[in-house]
Amino acid sequence: MPVIRFVREGRDVECYPGENLREVALREGIQLYGLKGTLGNCGGCGQCITCFVEIPEGTAAQALTPRTAVEDQKLRRRPDGWRLACQALVQQSLVVITRPQVGLADKTAQIEQALATPLPPGPTSWPVVSTPEEDADAQPEQGPAGAAEATADEEG
Ligand code: FES
Repeated sequence: MPVIRFVREGRDVECYPGENLREVALREGIQLYGLKGTLGNCGGCGQCITCFVEIPEGTAAQALTPRTAVEDQKLRRRPDGWRLACQALVQQSLVVITRPQVGLADKTAQIEQALATPLPPGPTSWPVVSTPEEDADAQPEQGPAGAAEATADEEG
């Protein structure tokens, strides 16, 4: 699975390819929002512009899906490396800084350290899940009937 390295929180979090970055962060208890977003956010619709994250230089361009039209519009006056977490889907492992508008002590050094430690690339597709019917088809036919036949053969 791809790994999201949250620099501010000092945590590596696994997710499935294609998962929404905001949803993964919230599921894992990562504080994604500043005060304004905590008090009220759009729930991931790309309207409140409070779920900023920074993707540092050196991160593979394809780690997240490309900027959406909403991001192009809403992030016009923000640094190029900023994204709206609710608009980004994780495709490969990457480094993320939450709440980039809030100061982070030794930010440059923390980013360098986060980028220097390799991340697993992670698969690019979801695991194949078999249905109960497929599982049943894959099972060799043995059971009480087969056991009875074996017993009968031994006696005969
Ligand atoms: S949650 Fe509102 S813009 Fe992302």
